Order: sequence, then C-alpha cells, then structure tokens
Amino acid sequence: MGYPLAEEEPYQKQNIKMAKKRIVSGMRPTGKLHLGNYEGALKNWVRKQDQYDCFFFVADWHALTSDYADTARFRENSLAMVTDWLAAGLDPERATIFIQSLVPEHAELHVYFSAVTPLGWLERVPTYKEQRENITDKDLGNYAFLGYPVLQAADICMYKADYVPVGLDQVAHVELTREIVRRFNNFYGDIFPEPESLLTETPKLTGTDGRKMSKSYNNTIELADTPEMLQAKVRQMITDRTRVRRSDPGHPEACDVCQMHRLFVSKEVADQYDADCREARGGCVDRKKALADSLITYLAPVTERLNYYRAHPDEVHDIVITGSKRAREEAGRTMADVRRAMNLSWV
Ligand code: TRP
Repeated sequence: MGYPLAEEEPYQKQNIKMAKKRIVSGMRPTGKLHLGNYEGALKNWVRKQDQYDCFFFVADWHALTSDYADTARFRENSLAMVTDWLAAGLDPERATIFIQSLVPEHAELHVYFSAVTPLGWLERVPTYKEQRENITDKDLGNYAFLGYPVLQAADICMYKADYVPVGLDQVAHVELTREIVRRFNNFYGDIFPEPESLLTETPKLTGTDGRKMSKSYNNTIELADTPEMLQAKVRQMITDRTRVRRSDPGHPEACDVCQMHRLFVSKEVADQYDADCREARGGCVDRKKALADSLITYLAPVTERLNYYRAHPDEVHDIVITGSKRAREEAGRTMADVRRAMNLSWV
C-alpha cells in the first residue's frame, strides 16, 4: 500500500529465502565422478536446488583425515569434482558451492564441538570401527580420523542446516551431529537446530565387469564418455550367463545389461524388453544396443555441460571462490553467535 517497489522487492526476496529450509551436504574430493556417483548423490542434489536453500561443498579437510600423506592432487581433484557437479546441473546462482578449506570457520567450530563431544561417542561410530578394521593401506590411527564426524557436525551446523541429504552410510554421522547439538545447546543456549538426514535412495550401479561400479575397480561409466566409448563399454558388459544361444529364454533379473537399462528408460519400455528376453524374442546384443542408446541420450546434456566447463576451468575456479566467499559470510554470522554464547567474544 503505497510502498515504493524498490523497497518491496528485496524484502520479498528475503522472505522467500527465509521460508526455504536449508540443506548442507559435502563430498570428499575424489576427482572425476562416474555414473554411479551421479545416480547416487549428485542427481539428488540437483533436484533439491528448487526446493531448498542449498550449501554444497568439497570436504577437502575430510580427505585430509585419511589421505594426509599425499595431498598433491587435492586441488586438482576438487576442481574436477566441482566441474562434474556443474555438468550435472548444480547451479551456482541457486546453490552455494564452496570449498571447505576456504571457510576456516569450520575448523574453529570443530574445536568448540570437540570440547563437548565425549570420546566414547566417537569410538562407537560404526564407520569408524569398520574402517579401522578394514582399511589397511592407510594409517587411520590419527587424531583427525577419530574426529571426522565432529568436523562433519561443524560443516552441517555452520549453516544451521535443517536437512542433510546423505546416503545410508552417513546417517550415523548426522545422528552424532544431533547429539553434539543437544549437548552444545544445553551448555550454551539454543544456537543450533537439530539437523535431520534426508535419506537418498542410491541405486547401486553395477560396473562393466559385474562388480559394484567403483573407480578403484576401473569398471566405471564416466559422465564424459563419448557415444563410442559408451557403446564399447556396454558391449563388454555381462548378460545372463545361462543364456548361451539367442533361442534360449533369458533371465533379465540376472542380467547386468537388463538391470541397468531399466534405470534409464520408462518402466513400460523395460518391461517390454524383459518380456522379449524371457521369451527369446530379443537377443542380448539388441538389449546392449538399447542400453547404449539410452545412456547416450541420458548423458548428452551432462556431457555437453561437462565439455563446456572443462574448456573453461577459470569459470569453475571463479564459481568456487565466489561460493566460498558467500559461505564465509554466513559462517561469520554463525561464529559470532557461537562466540557470544560461549563467552569468547571480545568485540
Ligand atoms: N562424510 C561425508 C562422506 O564421506 C562427506 C561430508 C563431509 C559431509 N561433511 C559433510 C556430508 C557434511 C554431509 C554433510 O560422504
């Protein structure tokens, strides 16, 4: 009513922002991502951008907890991963994309959280016990590795996240974050909301050799694979081993190609192919061709953006610098609250 539009607009914008719930999530800088990573976490992040106020970051300090002996490729891997994020459709206009180590406030909050976290909580974290037992090619006997989930709690709370989109393996870390928040708030007042996991259903993709798709097995389909490479990779994939001749009835449920094809076409199309397979109307070569075609179509827009960003590495660099500045402003506000609450504020 009579207010000048110029004032009304930013006010409304602010309101929209405040109404959106906030999510925070990170990935360790593993370098290039493959189709399995895309189908798992990444596609889900992309979808969340409309609905939530998103903070997505490269957890390079988390990589440090186990890979401290070899940091040579940290930066390169971080940039390669963000390049893939952008290719997947993360939008720096809508999501804050940043590098953890460029926001040193995370380390400060980690110190405060480490004070209120009993050792027993950390020793009981399932991923900790599991990895100490199973990973033998790295030293995990360091202080930082035990504190891994405390650092994660700092990442999440720094932005006062409502939700944390993660896979099942990370739910225990979000639980621990909630416990740390409760204990912290008990001592110093209500500073942090208790974040909740937003469980991502992650179809486990099978690699081209029949094992779980994983960089370390060298069996991945890459976001950047050309149509020729996709065709060649799909050709090597394993179909129903019991179907020797084309005239034998097939078992799509026991076929890597059929299973993967189903993920990239409509249910109707997959059902039709499955029926043809069972009744020996369609052969494995046809199904492989159909899978390769579906992957080519599916990945085309991603590959196109990927090629763009690979040709413009400076742009990727600028995006993470700008995002990290934005994250740092937010982090500064949180830390001012925290310091005040903890009687550590001198100004
Ligand atoms: N631990 C997570 C993983 O290995 C990565 C991570 C670090 C993270 N900090 C986070 C995820 C904060 C969500 C929120 O996948």
